[in-house]
Amino acid sequence: MSKVRAAITGVHGWVPDYVLTNQELETMVETSDEWITSRTGIKERRILKGDNQGTSVIGTQAVKGLLEKTNTDPKDIDLILCATVTPDMPFPATANLIAANVGAVNSFGYDMSAACSGFLYAVATAASFIESGMYKKVVVVGADKMSSIIDYTDRTTCIIFGDGGGAALLEPNTEGFGVMDSILRSDGSGAPYLHIKAGGSLKPASPETIQNREHFAYQEGSTVFKFAVTNMADVSAEVMQRNNLTGDDIRYLVPHQANKRIIDATARRMGVGDEKVMLNIERYGNTTAGTLPLCLWDYESQLKKGDNLILAAFGGGFTWGAIWLKWAYDPK
Ligand code: UT7
Repeated sequence: MSKVRAAITGVHGWVPDYVLTNQELETMVETSDEWITSRTGIKERRILKGDNQGTSVIGTQAVKGLLEKTNTDPKDIDLILCATVTPDMPFPATANLIAANVGAVNSFGYDMSAACSGFLYAVATAASFIESGMYKKVVVVGADKMSSIIDYTDRTTCIIFGDGGGAALLEPNTEGFGVMDSILRSDGSGAPYLHIKAGGSLKPASPETIQNREHFAYQEGSTVFKFAVTNMADVSAEVMQRNNLTGDDIRYLVPHQANKRIIDATARRMGVGDEKVMLNIERYGNTTAGTLPLCLWDYESQLKKGDNLILAAFGGGFTWGAIWLKWAYDPK
């Protein structure tokens, strides 16, 4: 029997119905479909509308679908990790709300705040719990309602982000499939370039913070772009090199969907062609922690047992990383 690894045994995604197109954004801020498409690759994104609709709605729908398609009894779930920067509330954790909604009454759960790298961090954490033998069924959710922290008068951010997410079930595998290696990094000195100024303990909400629009995501796009291009490509190449993998060995790069140009640069550096890159940015934009599970969900029917995937992300923190994963099942 080989080493116990943590394998993804199912994945499911969920996005809200409302489609915010580039054409509609043209009526809201000074921008154009041509600019957005050529600079980012995004055509449309989804928005979760209505009262009392937090990120837990996205997570709950994704986990319900996941449990159904994997025939998993919610009572058997040991742990739910929810990667998000848009929790329903500062506390309790959105993971707890999702657990209650799906009937995971024997689980515990908590949120992980690592922005766009959240799903990677959570998968690596889940893998450690499984490899240690401590838990057998861990659900990892990556979901964000980015529209709740986006300023729709700021054309530099509102064109990028969307709402959505997904969930993956991780279970022990002794056949050599699952999470093979991971490299995770963070650097808090990147905070000035991508953050929310107010609403935390540093600067609690006040009439001034609202007036100054300080509860929205602030991004210095071109600085973040430079760090993202370098770091996401570096870490993807590093995880391949240290495992003697070449572009030919890789079935798919699963990149964070922030900007098509960042994705292209990462793929070039890894030596993989466009046909090996998961891409859905044109339909969903940047859903922060949601992008990676949404990609896996979209491409699930094309994945076969033993396929080598490199998951890679870069985002606020700064946080970044790459995971080498051997897919554990054939299309059902
Ligand atoms: O997922 C979390 C991590 N985030 C990222 O990875 C995002 C990284 N950054 C980016 O993807 C890009 O920097 C953006 C898409 C945000 C911006 O693209 P850019 O090519 O870096 O543009 P820029 O910020 O350098 O701006 C170029 C020009 C500016 O005009 P001037 O100063 O050259 O006259 C902007 O004012 O484009 C202008 N601009 C726009 N024009 C039309 C900025 N936003 C828009 C817009 N429509 N929406």
